Order: sequence, then C-alpha cells, then structure tokens
Amino acid sequence: MNIPEMMQAVQLEKMGGPLVTRTVRVPHPKTGEVLVKISASPVNPSDLARINGISDEQDINSFIPGLEGSGTVVEAGKGILPRLWLGKRVACSAISPSSGTWAEYMVTSAGYCFPLPKKISDEQGSMLLVNPMTAVAFFDIILNDKHKAIINSAAAGALGGMIRLLGNKHNIPVINVVKNDLQAQKLRQDGARYVLKNTDADYTDQLRLLTHKLNATLALDPISGSHTRQLLEALPYGGTVIVYGQLSGIDQGTSLRPLVLENKKLHGFYLANWMKETSMIKTVLNLYRVRQLLKNDLTITVQNRFPLEKTQSAIDTYLGNMTAGKVLVIPGL
Ligand SMILES: NC(=O)c1ccc[n+]([C@@H]2O[C@H](COP(=O)([O-])OP(=O)(O)OC[C@H]3O[C@@H](n4cnc5c(N)ncnc54)[C@H](OP(=O)(O)O)[C@@H]3O)[C@@H](O)[C@H]2O)c1
Repeated sequence: MNIPEMMQAVQLEKMGGPLVTRTVRVPHPKTGEVLVKISASPVNPSDLARINGISDEQDINSFIPGLEGSGTVVEAGKGILPRLWLGKRVACSAISPSSGTWAEYMVTSAGYCFPLPKKISDEQGSMLLVNPMTAVAFFDIILNDKHKAIINSAAAGALGGMIRLLGNKHNIPVINVVKNDLQAQKLRQDGARYVLKNTDADYTDQLRLLTHKLNATLALDPISGSHTRQLLEALPYGGTVIVYGQLSGIDQGTSLRPLVLENKKLHGFYLANWMKETSMIKTVLNLYRVRQLLKNDLTITVQNRFPLEKTQSAIDTYLGNMTAGKVLVIPGL
C-alpha cells in the first residue's frame, strides 16, 4: 500500500470552532500501534463534548477529532497484534487527541481495533464500538445486579434503540422515555410497550406508577439535570440511577433527598473506564456479542453522509435532528 506523506484532517480553526480541513503529515505507528486508512466515522455526542472541552492553544493546533470509525490497517508497528491486523478491515477507536478518525489516516493502538466480518459494512462497522458496546455493558450490569425492569431515558436515539433491542432479547421490560409525540408514536410503531413523554405535566407520577408496577429498579440517564431528580424520585425504594450523558446541557439540579431517605444510588458510567476495569477476556467476549448483534439484529440508521471538508455541516445536520439517525464523515466522498 502506497502511504502518502500528507493527508487531509479535520481541525478546529479556533477555540469553539468552526471545524476546518487542513493538510497535515500522515502519522506512523509505534510499537503496539497501527495506521488505519479511515473509511467512515460517525458524529457522536461524545465527539461534540470533546470538541467543546478543548481549552488550550497548543491542543487546538494538534487536535484531530473523531473518536470511532472503520477502515483498513495499512501499516503495522512492532508487535504481534499490529502484524495480525495488517491488511484487515477494522472498527477502530482513537487513543490520542492528535490522531482522530475525522482524517484520512489515524494511528491508534492495535488493541483498540476489532476486525470486521464481510457481513458488516464500513458504515455500520464505524459505529460498532461506542454505542453498541455501551448497550452490551449496560446489560452486563442489569443481569449481574438482577434488575427485573429498567428505565431507558432518551429512548428515541441510537443507543436508546439498542437498549430496547437488548431488553427484548433478555426479556427485561423497558420503560422508554422520549421528548415528544412524534418520537412516542415511532417507538410504539416499532413495538415498544412502555413509552412515556418527559414533557408531560404528570410525567413523574406516570413514571412512578410504572416503575413500581414493573419493579424497575434501574434508570439509565443520558439527560442529567432535573431529569435525574425525576428518575430518583420515581424509582422504587433502593433503586439506582446511572448517569451516562448530559443531553440537557445542565450540570446540576439533582436533589439528593431520595439517596438519604430511600436508600437510592446514583452512579456514573463512562465506557472507556468500564472497559479498563473489565478483564480482556470479557471485553473480547462483549466485542463478539456486538459483532453478532450488528450481523444479525441491528442496523443503525444513517441520515446523511458528508466528506471531510464538510464536517461542520455534518455536525449542524446532526444537531438539527439527532433522532433522524447518525451522520457520517466519509473521507474522499
Ligand atoms: N458514558 C458513555 O460511555 C456513553 C457511551 C455512549 C453514549 N453516551 C451518551 O448517550 C447519549 C445518547 O447517545 P446517542 O449516540 O444515542 O445519541 P443520538 O442518537 O443522537 O440520540 C440522542 C437522543 O436523545 C434525545 N434527547 C436529547 N435531549 C433530550 C432530552 N432532554 N430528553 C429526552 N430526549 C432527549 C434526542 O432527541 P432530539 O433529536 O429530539 O433532540 C435523540 O433522540 C449521549 O448523551 C452520549 O453522550 C455515553
């Protein structure tokens, strides 16, 4: 494979954006690393949080966003795993802020690459690591902790859909929380049995009734802010909320009273930390579970595709309607 010296990569023009494309040097892998020629990469909320979190001038000059993607391994650093992956199509995730997936090439650890079977396309494979792995991790927690039913907040999104799918597979009733009538109607059409709107005036009362009826003792919450308090209030005695996102944009508003009076628990979840704390064997097993899901049951909706030089439009399109599906960045489109 002929690897060029220079490539196109997305960078921040200045703090806070906009995103621009620049010509930069193609990086080369060190021991344990590989160079991936990127085929596709999604825009995820975690990418936007990372872009907004960049704070210093030096970071901006070297920062290439994009946390997950798919592509082909075109160069291997020293080590068995890098050589094993050489020439393979992989799902991959970034390990360094200076080499992200929104570029023609990315250097990453071979341990952060996972070979893709023929049945999984580059596009679907590019979304394999973050959301499907999170959904599988949640069901590890749900089954281990023997929860009988769960609350799935922001259920109309991509991850929300995967949680519904796994709930069906494991026979765990899922209470789906959405924002508006359109989302509620869509979920019901897709066969969801329990759907609530968090914009209804009596939402907390409806939620409390249903959680007690189904004995839903775990709430998954990517919304945060006052929604976390509503979940804490609605759960039965001893229930747990896992906060894993901040879609409301609000960082406070949680009354801790139910933790004190009703023995409830509030935990955080971040996939990267969860994977670090999980044994290698379990991670590989979970990756195979995800691969099976994408091969057989799960197709992630893609609403639009943009070339690298239009990544800012990709983000604007995604933020315009997150429920419509993922937006992909495709080098060379
Ligand atoms: N902690 C981790 O390791 C981890 C891993 C994966 C994902 N996540 C988090 O999981 C969340 C979902 O990710 P995703 O990829 O599924 O996103 P997505 O496909 O863009 O879906 C987001 C969904 O949330 C809805 N939403 C936004 N604000 C809401 C609110 N206040 N109340 C109810 N629904 C709301 C959106 O509806 P509209 O389209 O109407 O706005 C959309 O349906 C994100 O916060 C992401 O950061 C965290």
